[in-house]
Amino acid sequence: MLVIRERTLLTREDKVEDSDTVEIRPVISGGQGRGRSRMKCRRCRQPAVIEVRRHNAAFCQPCFEHHFNEQVRRAVKEHAMFGPDDRIMVAVSGGKDSLALWHVLLGQGYSATGMYLGLGIGEYSDRSGEAARRFARDRGASLIEVDLRDAYGFDIPTAGRKGSRSTCSVCGLSKRYLFNRVALEAGFDVVATGHNLDDEAATLLGNTLRWQTEYIARQFPVLAAKEGMVKKVKPLYRLSERETAAYAFLQGIDYVVEECPLVEGNTQLKYKAAMNGLEAGAPGTKASFYFGYLDRAARLFRDDAAGSLTPCRRCGQPTTGHYCAFCRARAQVLGEPLAPPADDQVARELSDEVLPADVYTRTGGGGPGGGA
Ligand code: FES
Ligand code: ZN
Repeated sequence: MLVIRERTLLTREDKVEDSDTVEIRPVISGGQGRGRSRMKCRRCRQPAVIEVRRHNAAFCQPCFEHHFNEQVRRAVKEHAMFGPDDRIMVAVSGGKDSLALWHVLLGQGYSATGMYLGLGIGEYSDRSGEAARRFARDRGASLIEVDLRDAYGFDIPTAGRKGSRSTCSVCGLSKRYLFNRVALEAGFDVVATGHNLDDEAATLLGNTLRWQTEYIARQFPVLAAKEGMVKKVKPLYRLSERETAAYAFLQGIDYVVEECPLVEGNTQLKYKAAMNGLEAGAPGTKASFYFGYLDRAARLFRDDAAGSLTPCRRCGQPTTGHYCAFCRARAQVLGEPLAPPADDQVARELSDEVLPADVYTRTGGGGPGGGA
């Protein structure tokens, strides 16, 4: 969690008086610091505002911002995510991760346009959309908006009630579909999402527990462009959720703190909680799990990557079968039949409800859609 007093982050050493008003801002994951006598910034020896146990380090505010920027630069460079002339579309949810990502990319001089997808989840979506619009307005940045109900005739709560998929599964696949489609149509070079280290470690744990080798093979900070798919990148994968929350706060970003109200029972959160338990006992576990996968294990799964893609017969977006998952889910929610399965391949595909990066199950009640 973050403890905030009058717009300042508190550390364990700060004393809180009875007269103080403090805000405890939950961060789902992270790992608080423990037991040093006087935390000093590792770079400049000034008093620290945040400890990052994984690095066995603490930072003052300017040096933490430097650290955050360096981690993003390193991610971008190591995986050749994009260059200074690329047009980047940032998938924005209104939460801390995606707004921190948009902020850091604009700060590093990239051409970064936001894309907000209205999911129709009541006041939560209203507040999220407003946070994205306010961010864009305050910085003179451009924001593309698509409303799922206006454009496609359904919203996420309805899809959760009517379809066979869990709410979070249809939410996740709608986001991936729309981010890809909008980016292609608007001519962006790359889509950037705010997935952080906690998201990636939890997803990898979920996929590994089920030995979903095809999804494990795709769980990379970069997915190259191919046949109707825009390149996808995750520039925050080296930073924990607690670091992105602290960064967003220290930068004065007004993000939506509350969680999606449909999150209950979400299996992704259970994997995050399990990883947090391990991290608390051994700081650095998440990083060694995910970075170790990237360095040493990913190549072992390469042969399991998904097969070739063909255009969806309804919308033209790429799919491994005849109709893409979005068109199938939408048809089901709206009660519009797609053409009947032509062969066994389609029948198999229709029963395969889980898409890459979905580690959510019907029994678990679902998970968040995409971490943006
Ligand atoms: Fe919001 Fe799953 S739909 S967390
Ligand atoms: Zn389609």
